Amino acid sequence: MNSHFNFLAPFYDRVISFSRLEQTLRVLDLPHPGSLLDAGGGTGRVAAALRPHIGFLAVADVSRAMLVQARQKDLSAASAETERLPFADGFFDRVLMVDALHHVSDRTATVRELYRVLNPGGRLVIEEPDLRTWPVKLIALAEKLALMRSHFLAPQQIAALFPPDAKIEIEAEENTAWIIAQKVTDQTP
Ligand SMILES: C[S@@+](CC[C@H](N)C(=O)[O-])C[C@H]1O[C@@H](n2cnc3c(N)ncnc32)[C@H](O)[C@@H]1O
Repeated sequence: MNSHFNFLAPFYDRVISFSRLEQTLRVLDLPHPGSLLDAGGGTGRVAAALRPHIGFLAVADVSRAMLVQARQKDLSAASAETERLPFADGFFDRVLMVDALHHVSDRTATVRELYRVLNPGGRLVIEEPDLRTWPVKLIALAEKLALMRSHFLAPQQIAALFPPDAKIEIEAEENTAWIIAQKVTDQTP
């Protein structure tokens, strides 16, 4: 999988554009003066668009070639597996993962780590193709046949990976779902 994205990295941004800025800002509750982690953030395609709306931003990804592209955008980029993030508990006010959860080897460990590095009161958003829709079911099948080792989960299955104290909402539009998790504190409305 890593070699797959290493191969795609130089062309990735030209093939896949980012058209959902307004929706992403809304589900992440941005702008915010604090910090954001884009986990599995690849070339920084999404992070670059979010940069004006957050104080500090970092991309973490396992593919070094994807990270080369992110660094060319002057983004802070960490080589890391999302199953073992090199950040302290509660380090980020916002955590985002776009189109990457179905690519990681261990989805349970990844969600646990994303939640661990989220600041109490913070917000974590996982954007995934919505497996409840037929086009995504077909993509999941095609990726399986192409031996891509991706593993899609339905939004409710992703929500179930969070600890019970997380306050979860699910939004969906067309073939995309957003799983929005808040780390609740006494001050959370
Ligand atoms: C489809 S790309 C999406 C990249 C970016 N989020 C975007 O929307 O442009 C999936 C990314 O997940 C990364 N990835 C896959 N497994 C990973 C893991 N275990 N830890 C960190 N990154 C991983 C890949 O290297 C790739 O950059």
